[in-house]
Amino acid sequence: MGVYRIAVFASGEGSNFQALAEAADAGKLGKAEIALLVCDKPSAPVVGRAGRLGIPAFLFQPKDYESREAYERVIVEQLEAHGVDLVVLAGYMRLLTPVIVEKFSRRLINIHPSLLPAFPGKDAIRQALAYGVKVSGVTVHFVDEGMDTGPIIAQAAIPIASGETPESFAQAVHAVERELYPEVVSWFAQGRVKLEGRQVTIGE
Ligand code: GRF
Repeated sequence: MGVYRIAVFASGEGSNFQALAEAADAGKLGKAEIALLVCDKPSAPVVGRAGRLGIPAFLFQPKDYESREAYERVIVEQLEAHGVDLVVLAGYMRLLTPVIVEKFSRRLINIHPSLLPAFPGKDAIRQALAYGVKVSGVTVHFVDEGMDTGPIIAQAAIPIASGETPESFAQAVHAVERELYPEVVSWFAQGRVKLEGRQVTIGE
């Protein structure tokens, strides 16, 4: 088997993108490499990270296109041109249409900063603290057309201490994300992830 090629979609800071790129460089993803960054905000910090890491980037501005489907068709061309095997969303702040979801069915994942199905959507960390839950965490899941609704692949729980702030809890969440996401991606690169209905199992 050749190299397993990963595209990361991100809109902002890119700490997960960086963690994945470093894990790939360190050989922790097996025979996988980050082949492409896809970013809808050309001024986002993640773009600078890609430049420093020497990872090609496809940058676009949604307002330059007629519709979501129109820019997603261009993204699909880019993914195919780079021979992408797995699409990894990491802080990509847009819902996907069937143009990408169907093309990359079973090969499209996201990381979300709560224990889904609790607190989907934006500002999950603030939502969890405002609700007063005592445990929250991180979920990696397959992406469907809904908002954080696809089958769950892995979760990690993080206790919420009294006096925790959104800022302090976000730090704890990011630390867990930087470990969990590369591990899950390595399972994909090794062909160990099986999906049946909503049930995901990780083979040996
Ligand atoms: C992460 O907390 C992730 O769970 C959420 O968006 C954030 C992205 O952070 N989907 P970064 O851009 O990877 O630093």
